[in-house]
Amino acid sequence: MRIIAYSVSSDELPFFEKYAHELGVAYKVTSKPLNEETMHLAKGCQGVSDFMHGDYTNKLLQQLQDYGIKYLSLRSVGYDGINLDLFKQHHIKLANVPQYSPNAIAEFTIALTLMLLRNLQVILPRVKTQDYARNNMKGRELADLTVGVVGTGHIGARAAKLFAGFGAKVVAYDHQQSGDLTYVDSLEDLYRQADVVSLHVPLTDDNHYMINTQTISQMKDSALLINTARGGLVDSKALLRALTSKKLAGAGLDVYEFFASEIFGEGKENEVIDDPTFLELSSLPNVIITPHIAYNTVTAIANMVKISTQNLLDFDKTGQSTNQVA
Ligand code: COI
Repeated sequence: MRIIAYSVSSDELPFFEKYAHELGVAYKVTSKPLNEETMHLAKGCQGVSDFMHGDYTNKLLQQLQDYGIKYLSLRSVGYDGINLDLFKQHHIKLANVPQYSPNAIAEFTIALTLMLLRNLQVILPRVKTQDYARNNMKGRELADLTVGVVGTGHIGARAAKLFAGFGAKVVAYDHQQSGDLTYVDSLEDLYRQADVVSLHVPLTDDNHYMINTQTISQMKDSALLINTARGGLVDSKALLRALTSKKLAGAGLDVYEFFASEIFGEGKENEVIDDPTFLELSSLPNVIITPHIAYNTVTAIANMVKISTQNLLDFDKTGQSTNQVA
C-alpha cells in the first residue's frame, strides 16, 4: 500500500522508516500540512496519514476522492472540528489513534500540577540568574489535596490513577462511569470540591467554554486549572480575569483556544503571537504554558505512526478499522 503522510515532524521520521519496513508499506512523507495547495502530493497513493485534523474542505476531499483515495487516518486522538458528514459524502473513511499513550498526557498533567504546586515555574528561571532566595515559595502537597478529573476516558482514567498514586483524593465526573473511581453527580460538585481541576474531555459543540466566569466562580480561590485537552474548553479571557483577580491560584495549559497548529509546532520558533490575552496569561507567574507537547514521548510517537498505518492497512484489507470515526 502506498501512503502519503502529511505534517511529518523530525521526531516522527525515524518511525516512518521503521514501520515502512516492519509493516511493508511505501510511505511518501512530507513535512507540509495537508491542504488545497498540497493535496496534489496524494496522487498515486491509496491512503493518507495526517498528524492532526487539517482544513478538510469539500474541494480537498473531492480531489482526494478523484485520486481514488478511500482512507485517511489521523495520528491524533482528537478529531474535533472535522465535518464527518463531508467524509461520508466523499466515501473517505476516517480513523484516529485513540490510545497511542494515555500515560504520556497523564504524566504531563501531573508534571504541570507538581510544578505549579511547588512554584517551580518561578524558581527555575530565578536560579538561572543566580538568585537562590526561597521566600514566599511554600508549596502544597498533592497528598493533602482533592483533584477533580473531568472526563475519565483513557487519558483521564490514567491521570486519576497517577494523582491517586501521589495520595491525592480523586473525584471524577463523566457521563459514562467506569472502573473504581469516585464520581460526583455534577460538574458543580467537582468544581466546589477540587483543589486541582484537570480537563480530559474531547471538545464538542456542547462543552465549548465549559470553563467560564460562571463555572470558575464555583471553584475554590486556591484551585489550579490544568488543561492538557483542548483550548476551546476554556474561555481564556475569563481565565485571565480569574487569575489576575486571585479568583484562581494558577493554571497549567498545554493547549490554548487559538492557533492550535499554526503557532505551536516544529519550525514555529520565529512566529510572533500578538494575542493580548495569550501574552498576558503567559506572563503571569502562576501560569505555565507549553506548546501542546503533552503527547510528545518516544512511546507515543511510535504508536501514533504504527497504529495510524495499521488503520489504513486494515481499511485496505477488510474495508474496516476498529478506530474508524467516520
Ligand atoms: C491529540 O492526539 O489529539 C493531541 O492533541 C496531540 C496532537 C498534537 C497529536
